[in-house]
Amino acid sequence: MNHLISPHGGELVDIVVDDERKEVLKDLALHLPSIVLSERHMCDLELLMTGAFSPLRGFMTNPDYEAVLDRMQLQDGTIWPIPVCLDVAESEAGRLEAGQSVVLRDPEGFMLAVMHVAEIWPIDKEREAQTIYGTTDTTHPGVDYLFHQTGSHYVGGKIEAVNLPLHFDFKNLRLTPVEVRNACAKVGWRRMVGFQTRNPLHRAQFEMTLRAMRQTKANLLLQPVVGTTKPGDIDYYTRVRCYQAASRHYAPNMMLLSLLPLAARMAGPREALWHALIRKNYGCTHFIVGRDHGGPGFDKEGKPFYEPYAAQELLNQYKDEIDIQIIPFEELVYVPEKEKYAPLGEISSEEGIKTISGTELRNLLRSGLEIPEWFTFPEVIEELKTAYPPRHRQGFTVFFTGLSGAGKSTIAKVLLSRFLEMGDRPVTLLDGDIVRRHLSSELGFSKEHRDINVRRIGFVASEITKNRGIAICAPIAPYSLSRRQIREMIEHYGGFIEVHVATPLDICEQRDRKGIYAKARAGMIKGFTGVDDPYEVPDDADVSVDTTEMTPDEAAQEVLLELQRQGFIK
Ligand code: PPS
Repeated sequence: MNHLISPHGGELVDIVVDDERKEVLKDLALHLPSIVLSERHMCDLELLMTGAFSPLRGFMTNPDYEAVLDRMQLQDGTIWPIPVCLDVAESEAGRLEAGQSVVLRDPEGFMLAVMHVAEIWPIDKEREAQTIYGTTDTTHPGVDYLFHQTGSHYVGGKIEAVNLPLHFDFKNLRLTPVEVRNACAKVGWRRMVGFQTRNPLHRAQFEMTLRAMRQTKANLLLQPVVGTTKPGDIDYYTRVRCYQAASRHYAPNMMLLSLLPLAARMAGPREALWHALIRKNYGCTHFIVGRDHGGPGFDKEGKPFYEPYAAQELLNQYKDEIDIQIIPFEELVYVPEKEKYAPLGEISSEEGIKTISGTELRNLLRSGLEIPEWFTFPEVIEELKTAYPPRHRQGFTVFFTGLSGAGKSTIAKVLLSRFLEMGDRPVTLLDGDIVRRHLSSELGFSKEHRDINVRRIGFVASEITKNRGIAICAPIAPYSLSRRQIREMIEHYGGFIEVHVATPLDICEQRDRKGIYAKARAGMIKGFTGVDDPYEVPDDADVSVDTTEMTPDEAAQEVLLELQRQGFIK
């Protein structure tokens, strides 16, 4: 180990076995049961494997878990605030036994490690939520995960690691603790201050890192979390491009950018302590803790889950035991008169201040308004604008639903022409008949088959929307649940405008352009929508048009007006 601070617990744990043992484990694996890991497990396992979770050597056993809950310690007294446990479903727990070994695999079946099971125990989720997060409110993402995604049992035991989880992105930035320590040794750094972030690096954070370096006479380890963070955070690809852009504002050899595949729990003070210990393993001698470090924001009553400086207070209590020095920061805000950032407490009452919250930033981006340069670097603004274009440059799906013969396809064709005339985005029409011919030719009209058909349309539309195109879909889509599921999937990427073509059955039947209602009435077609099969009328459609008295152009105009109102077209 080099001259930097000692790892937590004294040594950097290395649970990756040598090549000979790897071969033995691979042979053994043929006869062992497997556990397929979730995204959170994969993050935890990677940090166990690289030694970032030193002194842990596997997923926690029950005595360690209990000690973490009760005393923020492992059973041997080493400080550790967050459970690192492998959860499984009840059915899986029933198949496992203490004393046996299991193979840990990624979702593709790739073997990552062998775990020697020491214990299996049921989880008391209420207690864990209350102790670790201080709440059982599922607005808290950590509590939500515990109650809705965590299995019923934990499985604990030591691990023999075979292969690190595979990553194909930003490989040269994914440094292990040993690699960070070696990089520091090479350039002669002896003091290093760690900065944790899950947001793009704006000027306030940049300023904070400069002040911390000045204060500690240290270099900087800028270590953003790229595992799982709070739902709704800016995706890490965009963030990493922002960090790369911002890192050019530091002097040469002043800082090192390294990505941390951590599954954040957002546990506030306990989380902050955990972050500090992890950074100690990477060789940080100092660690920055700002306002509301590791907090997820507000509870269901609008109150913050944690006091803004609770994390700093907890770390202060542990300062003599954890070795790594904490650099507390008050919130830094912009003072326009002085054209600089300053801690909120140092500003006199006459001075005006400026801040932009995460939500305000997202609103500015969404509406295409300018992001001021005092807030962040121009290169960061460019990256954010590219990744989060305003609505009129995002993709969207117009999803028609209604009975056969209601006029869906005709209005869809009018709309297709309008979008082609506008010409600013690629457009695809996924008409019911076209889809049935090209994507769903093997499907019939049972509820199950209709749902499969509609889900396929939704999937294609979501891909088009994600890539900023326009998808126009026109199936009957008679079931509200599948329509709602598609809406949820697509709204993740762009707009979803549901148009109910509410032309009544008797009008559709009078028109009967395909002669298909006549066949259905004659019993030649069974399970025909509206005749002897259900159509669940939407109660959440964005637009409803009835073509009894309305031309297709007029109906299309209503859709265009709604798109304009929502900002998807100018
Ligand atoms: S669904 O329910 O969304 O999967 O239906 P969709 O793919 O849009 O297909 C509807 C067209 O198929 C013809 N057709 C039937 N419709 C309803 N029920 C039954 N049993 C049926 N059998 C064939 C019908 O002509 C629909 O055409 P459109 O374009 O909607 O008039």
